[in-house]
Amino acid sequence: MCKVLKMKVMCFLTILCTVLFTYCFADTYPRAQNVSWFSINFKTLLMWEPKPTNYSYTVEFSVIGENRQKNPHCIRTLQTECDLSNSLKDLKATYSADILSEPPYGVNSDLVEFPHTTSEWFNPYKDTLLGRPEFKIKVSEDKRTITLYVEDPPTALFNEKDQTRTIRDVFGDDLQYKVTFGKATSTGKKTKISASSEIQLDRTDIDPGVSYCFSVQAYIPSRSTNKQLGELSQRQCSPSNEKTLFDDYGIGVKVGFILLISTIIAVAVLVTVLCCKRRSNTKQGKEGVPLRTV
Ligand SMILES: *[C@@H]1O[C@H](CO)[C@@H](O)[C@H](O)[C@H]1NC(C)=O
Ligand SMILES: *[C@@H]1O[C@H](CO)[C@@H](O)[C@H](O)[C@H]1NC(C)=O
Repeated sequence: MCKVLKMKVMCFLTILCTVLFTYCFADTYPRAQNVSWFSINFKTLLMWEPKPTNYSYTVEFSVIGENRQKNPHCIRTLQTECDLSNSLKDLKATYSADILSEPPYGVNSDLVEFPHTTSEWFNPYKDTLLGRPEFKIKVSEDKRTITLYVEDPPTALFNEKDQTRTIRDVFGDDLQYKVTFGKATSTGKKTKISASSEIQLDRTDIDPGVSYCFSVQAYIPSRSTNKQLGELSQRQCSPSNEKTLFDDYGIGVKVGFILLISTIIAVAVLVTVLCCKRRSNTKQGKEGVPLRTV
């Protein structure tokens, strides 16, 4: 194989390394790579690579400077992810995690310390992504105000009564919403920030009776700038209130119009019935005459 001198040196080095590795690190396993946090609405996964063969992973996490903890689902696991949503109890603390490469479940090893990889820091309160909210649009009767009712997205967290907590339950007054909106017929855009999940747009924001389109996203001003805004909701538009024929008239005119239509229909039916009757009378008359003479 190694015909050229250069190649011979390379070969020698390769063999040396292989021998060294076999003797010194025979019992070790590959380190986890590409370790990262994926967190949305406090659903927090720690993920890494590669898939293990003949070894397993154990995840240890801790608040910076405190004792290490484990999640029972992420001990000697063959998975490459660990759900820590409900393990990171103190949402405002900053955590780091270690992923240890260990022997498979039930296999002992002489190694005292296993190879490990340390994750980046993660702070649920500051770092979790805020998912797209849903909302309903209500136009007031006089068409001068539009109210958006935003549904605070649910989180992966539970309260003491085992009920799902919303992002409002977690963030309280830190949570605001940003609305981006514009007339359905134009590309111009305006924005409005609201501390409440009920967002009212009045004549300072909108022209009455015009169709507007809205997108909403969560907004947390206390966070670092690149993490303040959540995912944009689906775009939704208010109905366009093109006036129908009746809108300009009062109730009296409407009732009058309906009466008029009814009268016309009634007359039409009456005329049809009368015509038919007369026609069948004449028919009967013609045919009836010879019968009577028999
Ligand atoms: C880590 O990520 C890089 C870039 O995405 C990729 O090329 C590499 O294969 C990954 N490592 C593992 C062990 O999958
Ligand atoms: C895993 O271990 C088994 C038994 O110890 C061995 O036969 C197999 O070749 C190993 N597989 C890999 C990919 O190392």
